[in-house]
Amino acid sequence: MIAAMMVATTAACGDSGAEGGGGGDDQIVLGFSQVGAESGWRTANTKSIQESAAEAGIDLKFADAQQKQENQIKAIRNFIAQRVDVIAFSPVVESGWDTVLKEAKDAEIPVILTDRAVDSQDETLYETFIGSDFVLEGRLSGEWLVEEFADESGPVRIVELQGTTGSAPANDRKQGFGEAIAADPKFEIIASQTGEFTRAKGKEVMEAFLQAHDDIDVLFAHNDDMGLGAIEAIEAAGLVPGQDITIITIDAVRDGMQALADGKINFIAECSPLLGPQLMELVEQVHAGESVPKRVVTEETTFTQEQAKEALPTREY
Ligand code: AHR
Repeated sequence: MIAAMMVATTAACGDSGAEGGGGGDDQIVLGFSQVGAESGWRTANTKSIQESAAEAGIDLKFADAQQKQENQIKAIRNFIAQRVDVIAFSPVVESGWDTVLKEAKDAEIPVILTDRAVDSQDETLYETFIGSDFVLEGRLSGEWLVEEFADESGPVRIVELQGTTGSAPANDRKQGFGEAIAADPKFEIIASQTGEFTRAKGKEVMEAFLQAHDDIDVLFAHNDDMGLGAIEAIEAAGLVPGQDITIITIDAVRDGMQALADGKINFIAECSPLLGPQLMELVEQVHAGESVPKRVVTEETTFTQEQAKEALPTREY
C-alpha cells in the first residue's frame, strides 16, 4: 500500500527543469511528508495543510508515512528525485535525519520543518522550523497541577502517557512537565510509558497502570487522544475521570475540549494543528529566495473546564 502511495506521488510529478516539478511554469510544487493519521490533531493538521495549499495555488505532493521514519526518508528521496521546489515534513522522531537532509541540500531543494524539530547540529540543513513550543506546553500543564494541588499535603501520585518514543513532543512535554512539578517533592511520577499518541494505546496502557497501582491521583497524557482512551479505561475500572483521577492533556482538539467541558478532563494545554496558512507563506518566501526566521513559534493558550465550555461552539477543529 505504501509502495502504491509512493508510486502515485511520483507519477503525479513530472521532471521540472529549473522551475521545479510538475505544477506548470509558475506553480510551486511542494512535497510534504506527514507523520501519519494517529490522532485528531494530525487529521486537523493534514486538512489545514491540504486546504491551505489549494488556496495558495501550490501543487501539493502529499505522502503519509504511517508513523515510520523509513517511510518519511523514502518520501523525501522521492521528492528529491522529482525535483519538487520545496520539501516540508513533520519528523516522526527527532534523530537520524542528517543524511537525507544533506541529500536535499546537495540537490538545492529547500526544506521546511513543520510541527516537530530534528536534533541535527547543522542548522543549514533546513530553512526554518514552524511549530509549537512543546516544552512550554508541558511546563504549563505542570504549573497548573502545582497550583491546583497547592493545598494538598501529598504525596501526589502521577501516571504519564508519553507520545511516540523519540518524538520531539514526547521528549519536550516530558521535560517541561517534569521541570514544573520539580517545584515540590510531593509530586511523584509513579509510572510513565508511551501510548504512541493513539486512543487505543492510551486505553491499553492506562488499563495496565490501573492494575498495577490503586492509588493514582493524576494522569498527564501527552495528547488528547491518549487521554480519551485512558478515560475509557478509568470508567471501565469503576472510577470517575476528572474526579477520582485529575486528568491533564495537550492539544485541545474538539473531542478533548468536549471531555473537558463535560468534566472528564481537568485542564488542556493547546497545541494548534492549523499550521497550513503560515507554512504556505513560508514555502512561497523560501521559493522566492527571501530570508525567513529560523524558528516560527505557533501562538497557543490553555483551557480550564469553564473556558472549554465557552470556546467549544466556535472551535474550528
Ligand atoms: O506533534 C504534535 C503531536 O502529534 C500532537 O500533540 C499529537 O496529537 C500528534 O500526534
